[in-house]
Amino acid sequence: MSSTSESNTAPRYLVTSALPYANGPIHFGHIAGAYLPADIFVRFLRLKKANVIYICGTDEYGAAITLNARKEGISPKELTDKYHRVIVGLFEKMQVEFDNFSRTTWPRHIENTQRIFLDLLKNGYVLEKTSQQQFCTHCNMFLPDRYIVGTCYNCGHEQARGDECPACGTWIDPLKLINPSCKMCGRAGLEVRETRHWYLDLPKLSPKLKEWLGEKTWWKKNVLNFIQNMIDQGLDARPITRDLDWGVPVPLEGAEGKVLYVWFDAPIGYLSSTMEWSEKRGEPNLWQDYWYNSECRMVHFIGKDNIPFHTIVWPGVLMGQDQPLILPYDVPANEFYNLEGAKFNTSTGWYIDVEDFFSKYQSDSIRYCIARNAPENSDSEFAWRDFQAKHNGELADIYGNLAARTFKFIHRYFDGRIPAAAEPTALDRETLAKMAEFPERVGHLLLDYRVREAAQEFMNLARLGNRYIDSSEPWKTRKTDPEQCGSSLRIACRLLAELAVLSYPFIPQSGTALWRQLRLDGTPQNQSWDDAAEIELPQDHPIGEAEIMFNKLTDEQIEAEIEALKARSAAQTGASTESHDAKSIEIPPIKATITYDEFAKLDMRVGEILAGENVPKSNKLLRLEIDLGCEKRQILAGIAQFYTPDQLVGRKVIVLANLAPRKLMGMESQGMLLAASLDSDLAALTIDNDRWATLPNGSPVS
Ligand code: 2FM
Ligand code: ZN
Repeated sequence: MSSTSESNTAPRYLVTSALPYANGPIHFGHIAGAYLPADIFVRFLRLKKANVIYICGTDEYGAAITLNARKEGISPKELTDKYHRVIVGLFEKMQVEFDNFSRTTWPRHIENTQRIFLDLLKNGYVLEKTSQQQFCTHCNMFLPDRYIVGTCYNCGHEQARGDECPACGTWIDPLKLINPSCKMCGRAGLEVRETRHWYLDLPKLSPKLKEWLGEKTWWKKNVLNFIQNMIDQGLDARPITRDLDWGVPVPLEGAEGKVLYVWFDAPIGYLSSTMEWSEKRGEPNLWQDYWYNSECRMVHFIGKDNIPFHTIVWPGVLMGQDQPLILPYDVPANEFYNLEGAKFNTSTGWYIDVEDFFSKYQSDSIRYCIARNAPENSDSEFAWRDFQAKHNGELADIYGNLAARTFKFIHRYFDGRIPAAAEPTALDRETLAKMAEFPERVGHLLLDYRVREAAQEFMNLARLGNRYIDSSEPWKTRKTDPEQCGSSLRIACRLLAELAVLSYPFIPQSGTALWRQLRLDGTPQNQSWDDAAEIELPQDHPIGEAEIMFNKLTDEQIEAEIEALKARSAAQTGASTESHDAKSIEIPPIKATITYDEFAKLDMRVGEILAGENVPKSNKLLRLEIDLGCEKRQILAGIAQFYTPDQLVGRKVIVLANLAPRKLMGMESQGMLLAASLDSDLAALTIDNDRWATLPNGSPVS
């Protein structure tokens, strides 16, 4: 271990945030889950004088990056270079400040990953297996499960993915998917080919993992419950390699064309980024003071979708390798943060343009808004009106107002100098006693990752300040008892100094602005959290000019933002703004072009539904009897969640009549009913409006 000595006994922390994929910009949803809570925690720990480093970087491998690069017509390296820069820029705007922000393409990260893989292999925690996988001959690659589309063998839904069916939720075996096609090129006719992969032997690591997890009594309940369920269901060996040419190569002879799975190398990025930090500081072994130090608390801030990898796979990897690396101390995972009732989604236009946002609004406003609604125990969301309410009603009216009224008064009546203290009144004593409780109270909440309540509490300190001024009425005592008046303003300034420090982790620019207006030495970040209520203010100390800290946001401005969001989303999805129902939807790309002759092979007919019933033991399928004019058919359609049989009988629908019959739930389906469907919603295609209802059954559709 290297020799940085430490004079205090505060614990040492290695704090990380999930490495963002360098395949697109990140949004406020990501910020709320993994970055802002960590940045607040780290700033707070520094004020507590803990030895803390905050580590992150971009996650630059994986099939998604290869595919996005292909779509943009550039190389994966060019894509990740581009988004690494974009992401760094956004963190700067958000004032999320890492000690090091690395990249998983850093050469030493590749060495670390390969070394850990080889350790695991040598120690018997990695198994080699041959399996069959879908291969797209056009794209010339084995397809990751979620890039295979086909008909669900459970419910008949035609847009099932190779990993999961969005209609019935079944975990799909991609080899069993009916009519599988490649999502990238849209072509059917995939080949099942044999391939060889390496698997992390989680069943073998499982007893150690269970014992280790059993000690984690202080973890958040949502995290513990999640893992408990996974472990109860039994852990399977997980493949940790892929057939791709972009990633950390599998360091074995004969493994050409195989790379380590992105989720295997990503958390190792925390280690590599710490090494890079140490190198940059010119102390190449400094990383060991954290990673080889069993007293160091490694805290991973992540979104809930990352829980299994951080609490099972990653600790398992750490346990199975050779170096004395520490295991996670805590994994405070957050739930999801949405936008106005729906998931952030760039492809449907349901997002906030970050460049545009920061050209109009302060980063403290969004930091505060997110912190006050942090998705700690359940999903939460950004809503423009809430943003306005938090900015106007709390930051401006409570925080900014306390500073403005205090500083203006001092400039006006005390020549811009902090007046002397007088014998404290009962109100002064009560206020000072309350002020003294805040560091402990807010600190306790932050150590418990309760950012929402902590943000509310520091604002309560500002409320206390406003109440104190209201009750001490300096505008009256100025005439009746000038000494007391000055003393009240001095207490208000002390409270503002405390507020500058306690608010600093949440709204660093505003904390710094308060400090600047008080003309105190250093910055809030150099102060001690525990002593924040006792900051000394020299007598006759000149303060700076009162600054306008928060300009109010108007209703018109906020309405315009909401309209712009809806309009963009409507433009990108083709929906009308009126009917936008704020759903998270991903429009699938248009499939490969076909010739007219290919199209003409489809025999689609008008059919009339004569009868229908639910299929026993299926909540998805309806059995329908359909008259095609020339014959009657039995069709099993995966639409039971959208229609009752009664709603369908008598309707004229469109049927693909020459589809080969197939068996679903033991019954033959003789054709397919056509329907439009997206994101778990569905509408059967009908022609039974006034004009067309007279078309006879069996009429061809072309
Ligand atoms: O979900 C994600 O965005 C991943 N890139 C997170 C990786 S976290 C860690 F393991 F690096
Ligand atoms: Zn393909």
